[in-house]
Amino acid sequence: MLPHSQMIIANWKMNLTLEEADEICKRLSSNSSRLLIIAVPTPYIAYLKAKYENLNFCAQDVSIKNDFGSYTGENSAKFFKSFGINYSIIGHSERRNLFGENNETIRQKLLNCISNDITPILCIGESLEIRKSGYYKEFLIRQLEECVGDIISHVSIIIAYEPVWAIGTKVIPSVNEISEIFDLIRNLDYKTQLVYGGSVNSENCKKLLEISNISGLLVGAASLDAEELLKILNS
Ligand code: PGA
Repeated sequence: MLPHSQMIIANWKMNLTLEEADEICKRLSSNSSRLLIIAVPTPYIAYLKAKYENLNFCAQDVSIKNDFGSYTGENSAKFFKSFGINYSIIGHSERRNLFGENNETIRQKLLNCISNDITPILCIGESLEIRKSGYYKEFLIRQLEECVGDIISHVSIIIAYEPVWAIGTKVIPSVNEISEIFDLIRNLDYKTQLVYGGSVNSENCKKLLEISNISGLLVGAASLDAEELLKILNS
């Protein structure tokens, strides 16, 4: 079971050299105010996990293939589990929009995480076009149903609501807009932890963490700066 405190998930995406990543981990390793989960670049994860035993590391994605085999370049969820990784981001909008992932592939990846006892952090979110069309709720329900519909009742997953129009744009939805989506998910009777992601920084995090029943935040760009991340952790 996950601890009850709010979590901060840092998503470093395809950034930082190993030396820079190591330096940030060094700064963070004495911090214990919130549950910190860091999604580091895959080539660094085993090294950093062995070096920083008190930090929680997270994969940024797992392969659609689960069993070992001839799949050059792929990273099975089994790899991550074999050295104690307990979380993976799945279905980030960058994977959907830049690398052709859809609800069906994401569902398979979720199943691969679950079968390896890795808690998936499932990202969902609508584009600006869909938000403006007014059909964003239907869109999000469809994403959820197709990705996790019949799985969710018996496993623990984290859902990250990350509107695509808020990622890397410095635009964040209002507290009411986020609450509306959280209520929507809860009304589906999904027993899950809900986090928000998209342009989170040390200035807006406090207000966001006050949203009713929010379990935490997913932070991209701001998490690449140790000072900024420490401010968010201590907010
Ligand atoms: P951002 O990214 O904080 O840089 O907007 C968030 C994310 O993509 O998860």
